[in-house]
Amino acid sequence: MFNTTAWNRLRYSLYAPVYDGVAERVFRRARQRSLEAVDFTPGCRVLLVGAGTGLDLPLLPREMEVHATDLSPAMVRRLARRADRLTRDVQCHVMDAEALDYPPAHFDVVVMHLILAVMPNPERGLAEAHRVLRNGGQLCVMDKFQPDDRPAAWPRRALNALTSAIATDITRQARPLLENAGFVIEHDRPVLAGSLFRALLARKHIALERD
Ligand SMILES: C[S@@+](CC[C@H](N)C(=O)[O-])C[C@H]1O[C@@H](n2cnc3c(N)ncnc32)[C@H](O)[C@@H]1O
Repeated sequence: MFNTTAWNRLRYSLYAPVYDGVAERVFRRARQRSLEAVDFTPGCRVLLVGAGTGLDLPLLPREMEVHATDLSPAMVRRLARRADRLTRDVQCHVMDAEALDYPPAHFDVVVMHLILAVMPNPERGLAEAHRVLRNGGQLCVMDKFQPDDRPAAWPRRALNALTSAIATDITRQARPLLENAGFVIEHDRPVLAGSLFRALLARKHIALERD
């Protein structure tokens, strides 16, 4: 499969100058709907994983501590410039979602928009999101997914060989991915292109003493 982290770093650095032109308007409403499900409390600590050029930033409330990371340095430069334009204090870092450089239980909210279908190993990315979230913390996901009740049929799998190399995987299933990572899904709704793009809000399971 032609989908590796090194390839993603290279291709997203090439896409960075044109990314907003392609993705800003198309996903604006879907992002809004995804983020409006999150219970942002004043002072909470939020991490955007695979933040790209920072198209989520204008939609976030101000009274929070925001960290934003991406694999591509070209994306992170644009992200930092957007934060400046918005006069927002955002800590921007080049970082692989599969190896987050944060301590456990550091964040109240992790946002993963349009990255779980891009990274070669979404299970690893979700394990990291789970690690850095506090117990009861919220995971906000918006992406394109195969319906959970059936695996992708062969035409979709064939098309996926192309789309996963140049854009995104189209065969991944949201619920198994999130639930196997230890998340409890609270909201799951279609937000774009029928039910291809979905917004999910999930919570890190709160471990009780008797668990
Ligand atoms: C489709 S873009 C989405 C960007 C942004 N989240 C948005 O909603 O517009 C996918 C982003 O994921 C980043 N990415 C891909 N693999 C990554 C990884 N392993 N770790 C961190 N970022 C990654 C890419 O560099 C790119 O900026």
